Amino acid sequence: MLPTLRRTAILGVGSAVPERVMTNDDLSKLVDTNDAWIIERTGIRQRHIAEPGEALSDYCLKAAQKALAMAGITPDQLDMIITGTATADYQFPAVSTIVQHKLGTSGQMAMDTTAACSGFLYSLSVADHFIRCSTYDYALVIGAELLSRIVDWEDRSTCVLFGDGAGAVVVGPSEDEERGILSWSLSADGATWPSLYMPGGGCINPASEESVKDRLHFIKMEGSDVFKTAVRTLQERAEVALENAGLKPEDVDLFVPHQANLRIIKAVGKRLGIAEENVFVNVDRYGNTSAASIPIALAEALGEGRIKKGDLLLLDSFGAGATAAATCIRW
Ligand code: COA
Repeated sequence: MLPTLRRTAILGVGSAVPERVMTNDDLSKLVDTNDAWIIERTGIRQRHIAEPGEALSDYCLKAAQKALAMAGITPDQLDMIITGTATADYQFPAVSTIVQHKLGTSGQMAMDTTAACSGFLYSLSVADHFIRCSTYDYALVIGAELLSRIVDWEDRSTCVLFGDGAGAVVVGPSEDEERGILSWSLSADGATWPSLYMPGGGCINPASEESVKDRLHFIKMEGSDVFKTAVRTLQERAEVALENAGLKPEDVDLFVPHQANLRIIKAVGKRLGIAEENVFVNVDRYGNTSAASIPIALAEALGEGRIKKGDLLLLDSFGAGATAAATCIRW
């Protein structure tokens, strides 16, 4: 028999970032850059960087525990664990299975999604559909990255941009059918893949002495191509998600875009016609944490009291492969 449809709500949110802060001045000791350039071109003032020996799953666990506590859900009540990441502990198994073990639970479905900076929203869309169809009740959705492990610390055009961290949400059936996830808009454009990728470690260039010598195990990026595609795509996804929910930009109480670059965030907010005070920004303090950026931003916005019951949130992400996702959520 086909299951009943119901609405999915975010029941708990949590985040965790490394203690160590790296400022722009710290970076200027590693590469030929300076605080003024980084702030003007990106809006980034500092980022958090994990210590050697720390694992992505350590940060996933901390964020998950906070989200579970807020939701009042125990790990054993979870039906599904899904993590968006490009920097899992290992190539396989999925870091979600390691988080499952660290949470002291077992049995539930656990997998990762690889959608770069859109990994969290892509994962949330999957969990939403399992819950909406009543297949499952509760899911833990994580977005997490230790990008410092794949950043080329000799390449000033990329190493200034990224940071480490994790964010998590617990989702489940909404008790109030007016509240919860209202709409989705997801896309990708594979033609863009060479503008942002890591050449080494996959089946084309498996690890070898040569691949290490050629610095293939680091992020390669054509910054200005990515910038233009990001602005256009973030705008498109947000507009379609709003349209799919029957809403307009002026209905948005808080716009939470992917935190890659302040200039991208401002350009998208302006194109959408969303007032600056309704656009959430924390890229200055975390840099681009890729799949972690939206759940970290959500946790901060909640902590700052910027989200009230009944508010309309618009979450919007963009990443490598031009993966993009936007969703409207009635809090
Ligand atoms: N410090 C100082 N100078 C730097 C620098 C740094 N960290 N990085 C690059 N430069 C230099 C360049 O070498 C170039 O010098 P040149 O004119 O002598 O050749 C100059 O600054 C301009 O570089 P350019 O790449 O045109 O700058 P930009 O305004 O496009 O800014 C980015 C570069 C990377 C900040 C910008 O393109 C960007 O943010 N792109 C999107 C990246 C992104 O968000 N990726 C993730 C998507 S999820």
